[in-house]
Amino acid sequence: MKIFKDEEKLSPEYVPPNLPHREKELELLMTFFSSVISGSPSISTRVLVSGSVGTGKSALVKLFGQKACYEASKKGIDLRFLYVNCRISKTTFLVLRKLVEQLKARLPERGLSDEELLHKLLDYIEYKGLYVIIALDEVEMLLREEGGEPIYLFTRVGEERLKIPRISMIFIFRNLEVLDTLDESTRSSLLGNIIHLKEYGYKELYDIIKYRASLAFHPDVLMDDVIQMIAEIASERGDARYALDILWRAGKYAEVDRVMKVTPEHVRKAVASVYPTIRREHLEYLELHSKLILLALARSLEAEKTAYITSSVLNEYYRMVCEEYDVEPRSYTSFWEALQRLDDLGIIKIKVVSEGARGRKSHISLLGIPTSILIKELEPLLPKKSSKST
Ligand SMILES: Nc1ncnc2c1ncn2[C@@H]1O[C@H](COP(=O)(O)OP(=O)(O)OP(=O)(O)O)[C@@H](O)[C@H]1O
Ligand SMILES: [Mg+2]
Repeated sequence: MKIFKDEEKLSPEYVPPNLPHREKELELLMTFFSSVISGSPSISTRVLVSGSVGTGKSALVKLFGQKACYEASKKGIDLRFLYVNCRISKTTFLVLRKLVEQLKARLPERGLSDEELLHKLLDYIEYKGLYVIIALDEVEMLLREEGGEPIYLFTRVGEERLKIPRISMIFIFRNLEVLDTLDESTRSSLLGNIIHLKEYGYKELYDIIKYRASLAFHPDVLMDDVIQMIAEIASERGDARYALDILWRAGKYAEVDRVMKVTPEHVRKAVASVYPTIRREHLEYLELHSKLILLALARSLEAEKTAYITSSVLNEYYRMVCEEYDVEPRSYTSFWEALQRLDDLGIIKIKVVSEGARGRKSHISLLGIPTSILIKELEPLLPKKSSKST
């Protein structure tokens, strides 16, 4: 009775051997650095990678680093990939220390200015005949602390000094707007090759989740509709980290339940535990029929054990709930309007799917809250079952 084959494969640090939907960008990086990889760079290469949260910037650059070193070693080139996250190493000095550490260079660090330490590092690199690609991740953090100085140091000093451009740089940004705060000459030393990673859409996230799940889960643990559901939820943010976080947590909830499969309900619990999206106050202010519809939705999803329910099936459940509460059900049009309002509020999700010749159907799902909790929250907000109300 096991869910995970290798849970570690979902940890944020793990770099997978493939990054679906980032193949082009990976290829582009290989092209930009091809002269470095073949040990014949004539100029120092600089690339900027930008993109919002969870678009795969760090993973892409790390995977590129591995590939580049592997390709270079096949040619007998001693290429090193040095990666520093500036959120952790917030000053130029700390960044330099990390570089020294990764090169395993024994250099005196005390009593040296940043620039002196950099020169020592360059001496070492020249002496050893190395080529180095330095990736600075979350550079905003460094710029916020120290302005443009570190950029100047990393781009200009090596250029002025080394006969062969042995150092190349990758700068990773979430948002390129910080560049506007730099002076013109620093900025121009950065601009050039920019790779922008667009936010992932549903289709991309679906493939990513499926791929990462195949590494982490036993086969047949994840049904396709569960993968679709997670992709749907995460596509609101275009964030792969969020998707993988939900995936992992849903697996953990399935483990706790000691079952063989991850269900939509596990996903809802996972989502609720990552970022609570529905609060009790929001439910309280809904009009009566919206509450009844939500109750019907929660019950139908629980009964059918699915991620989605069609609007017509939901309408049947809604009519049953109305009967139970002695309320006259609304017309289908008003029912549909109420659904759309709930979708606008982000409580439910309506997805219109085409069914070929048979026309279109609407799939209704509940994203941010487990059905069991929703039912428990809603029932006290509804009128007593015996009393008549409209
Ligand atoms: N195309 C992909 N295929 C498989 N996994 C991916 C893909 N893109 C991102 N991931 C995974 O999603 C998670 C987030 O990616 P990553 O850390 O690279 O994002 P990021 O753009 O650096 O985000 P941040 O701005 O928060 O640092 C990681 O676990 C990463 O392995
Ligand atoms: Mg990152």
